[in-house]
Amino acid sequence: MTQEETFKQLTAHAKEYGFIFPSSEIYDGLSAVYDYGQMGVELKNNIKKYWWDAMVRLNENIVGIDSAIFMHPKVWQASGHVGAFNDPLIDNKDSKKRYRADVLIEDHIARLEEKIQKEVEKGRRKFGDAFDERQFLSTNPNVLRNRQKADEIRARMTEALNANDLEALRNIIIDCGIVCPVSGSRNWTEVRQFNLMFSTQLGNISGQDGIIYLRPETAQGIFVNFLNVCKTGRMKIPFGIAQTGKAFRNEIVARQFIFRMREFEQMEMQFFVRPGDELEWFSKWKEARLQWHKALGLGDGKYRFHDHEKLAHYANAATDIEFEFPFGFKELEGIHSRTDFDLGNHQKFSGRKIQYFDPETNESYTPYVVETSIGLDRMFLAVLSAAYCEEKLENGETRTVLRIPPVLSPVKAAVLPLVKKDGLPEVAREIMDTLKYDFNCQYDDKDSIGKRYRRQDAIGTPYCITIDHDTLADRCVTVRDRDTMAQERVPVSAIRGIIEEKTGYRPVLEKLYDINK
Ligand code: GAP
Repeated sequence: MTQEETFKQLTAHAKEYGFIFPSSEIYDGLSAVYDYGQMGVELKNNIKKYWWDAMVRLNENIVGIDSAIFMHPKVWQASGHVGAFNDPLIDNKDSKKRYRADVLIEDHIARLEEKIQKEVEKGRRKFGDAFDERQFLSTNPNVLRNRQKADEIRARMTEALNANDLEALRNIIIDCGIVCPVSGSRNWTEVRQFNLMFSTQLGNISGQDGIIYLRPETAQGIFVNFLNVCKTGRMKIPFGIAQTGKAFRNEIVARQFIFRMREFEQMEMQFFVRPGDELEWFSKWKEARLQWHKALGLGDGKYRFHDHEKLAHYANAATDIEFEFPFGFKELEGIHSRTDFDLGNHQKFSGRKIQYFDPETNESYTPYVVETSIGLDRMFLAVLSAAYCEEKLENGETRTVLRIPPVLSPVKAAVLPLVKKDGLPEVAREIMDTLKYDFNCQYDDKDSIGKRYRRQDAIGTPYCITIDHDTLADRCVTVRDRDTMAQERVPVSAIRGIIEEKTGYRPVLEKLYDINK
């Protein structure tokens, strides 16, 4: 099965089992906006708790806040979003469709890469075992021609983007003969900058002055509360402020399911440090965040750092943690050393003194900031795509199982009376009523036990607890493990401990790197 087919199956599965629905589906959906269903919301909440506890609970010097989505419009001037939070867009005059100019070019490069890949496959078929891919890539004329084209186009695009040269971007589209995927024509408009912030109007102010934005990141809510938290929380540098919440971006290109959405959720933490110490903290946070990901056990090889060579004007170091999604390695989280840019600019635009008095050095200064920023929905997609598995069983059947890390599984245990009579439901209800205070459990007494196991596999439930006739006599149940499908007979009194051990947060949190050591 190709990666594209697997991804299609994954999105269909996410809908079928109540993880993710297209927004307003009965009206044919709203592009790049999604709703989380009954399973999705549980998984999302569990990811959020894992992040929050790792940040706020484990670190005495990190506290959380929950700031409003609407903020004073000047915030977005100070942060640079009004002036520079843009994407270059181009319209096709025939189809009236709008595209991101750089994405049209990237897609063109991807097609050249595909041609190279096809050539390699042809070579492999032709030469069989004697095929030497490295030699083929460095000598085959078709490969070399397409490689050179791809490299040249990429270099031109990078130069145009870095120079903010919109005409140069358009020239690449024209020179490459890129056509609109809908109309097939090359009838393009000029390239223009398009601001990604959604705006709306305050009720009591008319005209320009009433324009207000939906926040495009949660970070600014932290910066504008720096003084409040510092004072009321008696915080001492180094310290952090964390928050999770919705962010909104009017993305022109909306694809790859919940990877790029117009309304999404971020989990961000700003760590305030003494100027000069920021690069040391930056590398500590890189380590800590990678470990947070790896502790889930999705596979260490699925992560890599992508250190930024070209830095934003306010940053002196930046990296992405990339994850191997079904469509390749892509950014999952950003870690940025943002200097004093944000606090400094808020000081300028607000006219308030935003400084910290350091009792150790007897100095006042604007703290430097190391930020960690991860998209909750993107993390959700990472977990779901790594967990999704179609498995051939020994008896020839296939099962679809979500190998979600048990700590994040939406449902921790299913309570299944073998039959709906003979006193089994009563015992099952008794077990359910004990477990429900600690774990999200499901009670299911419909269909054969095999079908019920499959339903639980499909939503990633780590344990199925079956109550049978022997239970009435020996007070023991059968506990089935999702991953191994092994079944074990255990006393009713042991169930709680077994589930706690495998699905609790503590064992995962204990694996984490202590940032303050
Ligand atoms: N405060 C820094 C900031 O917002 P960013 O790289 O623009 O940095 C951080 O975003 C993270 O937010 C990304 O690594 C990604 O996980 C997530 N993210 C950004 N745009 C997104 C979108 N349109 N849909 C889903 N997640 C998004």
